[in-house]
Amino acid sequence: MGSRTAAGALAGQVALVTGATRGIGAACAAALAGAGARVALNHRDAAAEAETAAVARRIAGDGGEAMPVRADVSDEAEVRSMFDAVLGRWGRLDILVANAGIQRDAPLHEMSLADWNRVIAVNLTGCFLCCREAAREFLRRGAGGGVSRAAGKIVCISSVHETIPWAGHANYAASKGGVAMLVATMAQELAAHQVRVNRVAPGAIRTAINRDAWRTPEAEARLLELIPYGRVGEVDDVARAVVWLASDASDYVNGACLVVDGGMSLFPAFRGNG
Ligand code: BGC
Repeated sequence: MGSRTAAGALAGQVALVTGATRGIGAACAAALAGAGARVALNHRDAAAEAETAAVARRIAGDGGEAMPVRADVSDEAEVRSMFDAVLGRWGRLDILVANAGIQRDAPLHEMSLADWNRVIAVNLTGCFLCCREAAREFLRRGAGGGVSRAAGKIVCISSVHETIPWAGHANYAASKGGVAMLVATMAQELAAHQVRVNRVAPGAIRTAINRDAWRTPEAEARLLELIPYGRVGEVDDVARAVVWLASDASDYVNGACLVVDGGMSLFPAFRGNG
């Protein structure tokens, strides 16, 4: 885990990563720490506490500084106290990576309202609540205090399914389409305050959320039919993109979507067809 590509680029900065217990979130946290940021690792509940603490220990072992913070991102009060905890500990916030996301898959005609609501609550409302809290802090503080050109940076983790329709996943695809427009609108609204808001749209990345899609050689071969680049993505592929969007190297990039998908969104079914 971890990426050292931008060593020191985020020195003096504080980042909060939601859904940092494992997968893409944990890799983003490690990569941000590798670039010099102090990182708060959000996890949802007591069940995820030990695993998140282990991520924090690994970061510390690599010479970084990390602290776990508990909050259900869909809960307004818990989100507020999470930001208070980060500001209380480190006194500042420079980067939010809004990553927490879930799937509750079902064919449309069988999808329960509870599964629809939960996915929208975590993936879209949770993103809104965390971005709003970060924006409040960035606007309150203003300029980046000498450690960054921007007053604050937000990177939301969307999905290729913000544009690719996905049968059997209507709640998830709708939530990610919502994240895309939320990011674009926040970027337009906050640019004048020197706050940059961008998103990364990962394709099939090897994590627990899509284990069934790569677990057996047969499943992986089927998945690879959708990926022109010929490999399943790894969490560090996404983490490197996130570090770049959080750093001054991307200072003039705002409202962008960085697709990290090995070409999945390039309509690979049209190769030799159509
Ligand atoms: C989903 C994964 C899926 C990938 C590509 C992601 O957003 O969470 O389950 O493998 O998109 O379809």
